[in-house]
Amino acid sequence: MLWCTANPLPDTVDLYHANMDDPLLDVVRLAGLLSAGERERAAGFRFERHRRRYVIGRAALRGVLGTLVDCDPAALPLLTESGGKPALRCGPAFNVSHSEEHLVIGIAHEGRLGVDAEVKKSIPDAMELANGSFADDEIAVLETLSASERSEAFLKIWTRKESLLKALGTGLSMPLNQVSMQSGEGQGNQLISSRSGSVDPRRWWVRSVGLRDDLEVAVAWDRPDFSCRVIQRDDASLALDRQGVPGLRRPSQHLPAAKVR
Ligand SMILES: CC(C)(COP(=O)(O)OP(=O)(O)OC[C@H]1O[C@@H](n2cnc3c(N)ncnc32)[C@H](O)[C@@H]1OP(=O)(O)O)[C@@H](O)C(=O)NCCC(=O)NCCS
Repeated sequence: MLWCTANPLPDTVDLYHANMDDPLLDVVRLAGLLSAGERERAAGFRFERHRRRYVIGRAALRGVLGTLVDCDPAALPLLTESGGKPALRCGPAFNVSHSEEHLVIGIAHEGRLGVDAEVKKSIPDAMELANGSFADDEIAVLETLSASERSEAFLKIWTRKESLLKALGTGLSMPLNQVSMQSGEGQGNQLISSRSGSVDPRRWWVRSVGLRDDLEVAVAWDRPDFSCRVIQRDDASLALDRQGVPGLRRPSQHLPAAKVR
């Protein structure tokens, strides 16, 4: 498959990354791994580039999960929860995010997991976007920053929020201002407050991951103090792990997760 797959560890989220525009990926072969419904969805894309990315993303997900649960990827019974979140009835927790050509698949051995990735860029209307959807304390922090700091902080808050909403399975159908995140590094990896009865802040941990310089990535999981292990497709023999999983290469960029308060 696209990566050398590793079994999930109890306190670690594995993040598989690939560039979906890599010309070496054989999209015709990968399309053979999709279900009939997925092939139908793929056929509905207007632009070839988007169709190709969808096929590669779904095939990659099936490939990783199929290896982990020892099932033919094409036969993997992927479900869709009521909010649209793909899931497996038996098997690891997972979540997918794509931004432009980047694909990130998060895998954990159990629990509720959300991943969000956004390509880093300048966001000239960050304040306008924040005013329409962020919590008051987040808006107040953004107002104190310079334009370049503001874009970065906006994306950190955004991906942290979205990873949590994706873990919950609500996606953006839950208002973004119901949860509040800090924007900085380190101690900033926290959900400061929740105004939603459906989010118990004591159950959730959220962290940003320095997966690549050009990508803002956040992970939310209902497990404390977790680490992340990054598995790159284009990194010859792959992966990083502080526990030293056989077959994987070097110590990782683990950052401690911060407690959701
Ligand atoms: C989920 C959502 C936040 C994704 O946002 P995005 O930034 O455009 O996309 P991302 O690349 O980060 O994530 C997309 C992936 O998340 C997953 N996903 C879809 N819905 C999801 C949900 N509700 N929760 C968690 N993950 C979801 C899918 O794997 C999807 O990939 P796919 O389209 O290839 O199947 C957005 O689509 C959303 O809010 N959906 C709303 C769901 C909704 O309104 N449901 C109402 C009842 S039907």
